[in-house]
Amino acid sequence: MDGNGRWAGSRGLPRTAGHTEGEENLARLVRVAVRRNIKWLTVFGFSTENWRRPRPEVRHILGLHEKLFGRVKELNELNVRIQWIGRPFDSPAARTPRYVQRAIRKAIADTADNTGMVLTVAFDYGGRSELVAAVEAARHSPDGVTVDSISEHLYMPELPPVDVLVRTSGERRVSNFLLWQSAGAAIYFTDAPWPDFDEYELDAALALPR
Ligand code: IPE
Ligand code: MG
Repeated sequence: MDGNGRWAGSRGLPRTAGHTEGEENLARLVRVAVRRNIKWLTVFGFSTENWRRPRPEVRHILGLHEKLFGRVKELNELNVRIQWIGRPFDSPAARTPRYVQRAIRKAIADTADNTGMVLTVAFDYGGRSELVAAVEAARHSPDGVTVDSISEHLYMPELPPVDVLVRTSGERRVSNFLLWQSAGAAIYFTDAPWPDFDEYELDAALALPR
């Protein structure tokens, strides 16, 4: 969900205002995705690299994730099941503070019975870290390192392959997002910064040949 900072900058607002609007936009877009009958929506909320940002900005983004994972009432009304993908909380490099861990666990539990769209939020996520962990686990599996054993040891093995990958805010390069899962995905590039990514943008992404 790239471009929150630029969205804010172009309006003379602080970067944090862009992140706040980005979280609101995700709530709006989830509604649209449900109407479009999308089954799996996965968003990159916070990367393993994002911890290097200035502390006040990180704190603001953490608070927004607490808010996002707190939207249980809305998610239940939409029959959306929330999931999380990222470095396991007990792994040595993981940095997710307890209050965010709690919000994530609670949201997952409180939406577990929903049967509609699965909204997966990547938080403290990096595609390379995920692959290192998967290969390490696959090494100890009966078949050793194979395509199947790596797939089975990803953070979220049930996540289906990516159909359409969206890059916002004019970024025309691959990021550290779902590297394994997005092999073969169509890519939708748009100049719209994340807070402006609306239903028309989503429809354009869905219209890509797949
Ligand atoms: C995305 O917006 C939000 C996060 C990475 C958490 P950015 O903060 O990357 O916004 P730009 O790229 O500076 O515009
Ligand atoms: Mg950015």
